[in-house]
Amino acid sequence: MKQERFDGRIPQALVDRLKQARRFVVLTGAGVSAESGVPTFRDAQTGHWARFRPEDLATPDAFRRDPRLVWEWYAMRRAKLADVQPNPAHLALAEMERRVAEFLLVTQNVDGLHQRAGSRGICELHGNITRTKCFDENRLVEKWSETGEVPPRCPRCGGYLRPDVVWFTESLPVVAFERSLAASQACDVFLSVGTSTVVYPAASLPYEALQRKALVVEINPQPTPLTEHATFALPGAAGAVLPALVNAVWSGA
Ligand code: OAD
Repeated sequence: MKQERFDGRIPQALVDRLKQARRFVVLTGAGVSAESGVPTFRDAQTGHWARFRPEDLATPDAFRRDPRLVWEWYAMRRAKLADVQPNPAHLALAEMERRVAEFLLVTQNVDGLHQRAGSRGICELHGNITRTKCFDENRLVEKWSETGEVPPRCPRCGGYLRPDVVWFTESLPVVAFERSLAASQACDVFLSVGTSTVVYPAASLPYEALQRKALVVEINPQPTPLTEHATFALPGAAGAVLPALVNAVWSGA
């Protein structure tokens, strides 16, 4: 069912289906953090990739070419996170998790806002910008000495440090993706929220759910390649739609 514009009401047919459902998977993208003030990637006005070329910043080759530029871009994004808070979309997802039998939150976001909002069962498909690892060893580093060199050096091997995020051409964390894929293939309901659904393999997950006849709901003010396939497409902002949905389905529960 395709609404033209989200009018604040959740379709009753959807409410009824969600009340009966047991196993939920939610895939989130940058659109969920947009209302916290965190830029997305592809939104024309605010998106990172609208101003920078991803291949200049978010690939191992970009880091080898200019480690300082890449480290400083992520340091700027990390610094901005100090000033942002989870928004009603993050909080509604944490509430949903508390209300249903089985719940897995699969996020492409690296900002850690779902954790700060209280979500528990989380798969971070693209890593987490607040974690740092050694570029050469590919192992996390908690502490390092600040010598003023940028990027800082690994205390174990002396190689450059980098953010613990997945870059283009890199593979996703195997356990997180396999857990997300298995849950997407076994769920009753798959919610896809705030993602342009163009970056694979994350973007394959809603189609895995569709193939197994799960109810697939998309929440996004803009159409995406998934929209025409979704059982329900709610064309609104996550910060408005998710609280309305949680309230409609579980308020009096
Ligand atoms: P994009 O920037 O590609 O897409 C953001 C989506 O959020 C768009 O479809 C917007 O329409 C939608 N959106 C914007 N504001 C919204 C709001 N308030 N509520 C709901 N939706 C809103 O970001 P992602 O789809 O997350 O990967 O991008 C996927 C991956 O591409 C990222 O994880 C990153 C990037 O390259 C890596 O860096 C590996």
